[in-house]
Amino acid sequence: MKNPIPAFVMYVLICAALAALQAPERMDVSLDHLAPENYAYREAERCAGCKGDQNAFMARAAGVDLSHKPPALDSRGWLASVHARSQSHGERVNTSCAVCHAPLAEGATRDEDKARPIPKGTWQGVTCGACHPGSVEQSRRKSLVANYEPGTDPTNPDNYIFRDRTDGKSMNTQCRFCHHESHDLLIEEKAEMLAAGDLRCIDCHMSAYALTDGHVERFHNFRVEENLPHSCSGGLGRSMSCHDQTGAEWFSRNLERVKGPRKEW
Ligand code: HEC
Ligand code: HEC
Ligand code: HEC
Ligand code: HEC
Repeated sequence: MKNPIPAFVMYVLICAALAALQAPERMDVSLDHLAPENYAYREAERCAGCKGDQNAFMARAAGVDLSHKPPALDSRGWLASVHARSQSHGERVNTSCAVCHAPLAEGATRDEDKARPIPKGTWQGVTCGACHPGSVEQSRRKSLVANYEPGTDPTNPDNYIFRDRTDGKSMNTQCRFCHHESHDLLIEEKAEMLAAGDLRCIDCHMSAYALTDGHVERFHNFRVEENLPHSCSGGLGRSMSCHDQTGAEWFSRNLERVKGPRKEW
């Protein structure tokens, strides 16, 4: 019997299947001119260069404005954060500090006896993969937000603690995985809300500034005062609306009444 599918249709089908199997198409984005001395943002480059509908969105999260050649800094994004500078502590930054300061660094270890220096020129900071399982195959990601266990294979989903994005407590634990100590909140109701997970670290530190094609775009610079009024006005795309009626200036004057002294968590 004659083959019912013409050869050229078969050829097109096979090509389409192969294309679907391939990793997402990428374009080359070099961030070398935006990186401080000793850093090489290889993973952030990979994310900023991810082609597709989400490209500009992903690049903005990384802190890159692709409309310029070469790409310029978008100060709302990760490149403008302290997380992107977390290894600027001289020679002391080694593979044991990397557990929190550079989780994706090669050889990151919780065993202090195994600590060794991390070569200058290879620093990546607290990069995307510390918080997002980007190297895990999409179908095996349980959530977009996770903590990566440093020094393990980043493509294996077993090496992540996935965080439930609908559970505020789970989201706060994601930050506390590294932030064992930081500030308290001075207003009692706020402190209680934080403890209960009704208020999240990201509500203040990663407030939303846009809703694009159903995606909430959040500041990845992790700053509060600088991102006013968004930081206090509550979530875009979230039912919680905190202080949407008040202007940035009022908040700026009153922020120190909110953030308390350091404590252990
Ligand atoms: C993988 C570990 C890790 C995770 C997870 C993490 N951080 Fe950090 N963060 C750090 C380190 C390390 C620094 C300090 C960098 C430095 O000063 O060199 C830092 C710095 C910061 C700073 C700036 C502090 C300053 O002194 O200006 C803020 C704000 C912050 N983190 C907020 C958060 C929030 C909010 C989350 C959760 C969404 C989070 N971090 C998750 C490791 C982490
Ligand atoms: C358990 C996670 C963790 C480990 C391990 C760790 N750090 Fe940090 N470190 C942090 C976090 C989180 C911050 C940000 C603290 C903040 O601003 O509240 C920080 C901040 C710092 C700062 C800035 C402090 C300041 O006062 O501005 C230095 C310097 C530092 N770490 C050095 C080191 C060195 C050196 C090592 C290794 C010997 C190390 N850290 C190991 C989590 C860690
Ligand atoms: C310290 C942790 C942390 C780091 C580092 C980090 N992110 Fe995020 N990111 C988050 C959190 C938390 C959210 C908010 C998730 C939510 O809204 O539920 C988020 C949200 C996002 C989103 C939106 C996801 C969606 O569809 O809702 C994108 C895209 C993103 N991040 C990209 C990046 C890129 C690219 C990098 C590195 C350049 C990066 N992130 C680094 C914590 C982080
Ligand atoms: C009600 C808002 C709010 C919440 C919720 C909040 N913060 Fe902050 N945080 C601030 C403000 C304001 C600052 C001052 C710096 C700024 O304006 O960017 C700050 C500063 C910080 C710093 C810099 C070091 C310091 O102690 O000054 C770190 C680290 C930090 N926050 C971590 C966290 C983490 C982790 C959580 C969740 C467990 C959290 N914050 C929840 C408002 C908040």
